[in-house]
Amino acid sequence: MQRISLRFLLRVTVLGAAGVAAGGSDGASRPAGSGGDVRAKIEYCMDCHGRQGQGYHGFLTMPRLAGQTSTYLENQLRAFMEGRRDRNLFINMSRVHGLNPAMRAAVAAQFQQLNPPAFGSAPSNLAAAGAKIYEEGVPEANIPACSACHGPDGTGQGEIPRLAGQVFSYTVRTLSTWNRDRGAASGEQTSAAVMAPIARNLTPNQIAAIAAYVSNLR
Ligand code: HEC
Ligand code: HEC
Repeated sequence: MQRISLRFLLRVTVLGAAGVAAGGSDGASRPAGSGGDVRAKIEYCMDCHGRQGQGYHGFLTMPRLAGQTSTYLENQLRAFMEGRRDRNLFINMSRVHGLNPAMRAAVAAQFQQLNPPAFGSAPSNLAAAGAKIYEEGVPEANIPACSACHGPDGTGQGEIPRLAGQVFSYTVRTLSTWNRDRGAASGEQTSAAVMAPIARNLTPNQIAAIAAYVSNLR
């Protein structure tokens, strides 16, 4: 753990202070070459997203990428580059995530294959309430069952992301701030627009319960 946070702090210090693309945007102009290039790029991603892509909860929360569908991973990398997804962080998200299409596909395929244990650290007393919402929705609040799209085990499919094993605090924040961070395209018919009304109708307690539940799914 010490190693991750140290390398991470170093990385953000560099990016924050100088605004340099530490391996990010150079990939945008070069075609994805040898397997060595892909491995080097994945190493770079893992500096922030955890040594097994399992995510990380520290100074910033890093989402789990391991086991995520490759289509969703590619879509999000594109959304960062096109400025449709931003968090107003001191990290330049579009630069950090800037990869050319071939590299994007290669890196996404690798992360989809990984299957480390979940990062953990969610409050376990909320999971039962979360399971109920996940499987049945909240009909009186117009909230559909999450399982209808994300699958009974939360493993996702295609452009619908895997939620299983996702870091608790990341899911909480994502659902709490959907319109601000990912709503840039909510007027358009994008995959992000699907989640906007759902996220808006969830209460903070419901969000915490669902986030706790899915964080423990395998
Ligand atoms: C400097 C740290 C840093 C580096 C390096 C980095 N990321 Fe990220 N990444 C983040 C942060 C922070 C987020 C969370 C953004 C948010 O909260 O919306 C994120 C989010 C993502 C997401 C969205 C995940 C989801 O569940 O929606 C994907 C996909 C992603 N990164 C892929 C990559 C890939 C691939 C690389 C390597 C090319 C990479 N990242 C390198 C910090 C980093
Ligand atoms: C109609 C289908 C559908 C339903 C129902 C649905 N989702 Fe989603 N969800 C999506 C799609 C599509 C995305 C990807 C959005 C994007 O590409 O930005 C998504 C994204 C998400 C994300 C972001 C994941 C990440 O890694 O950042 C979370 C969290 C999420 N959904 C939670 C839920 C919860 C909780 C429910 C139930 C209350 C739910 N979803 C119901 C389709 C759905």
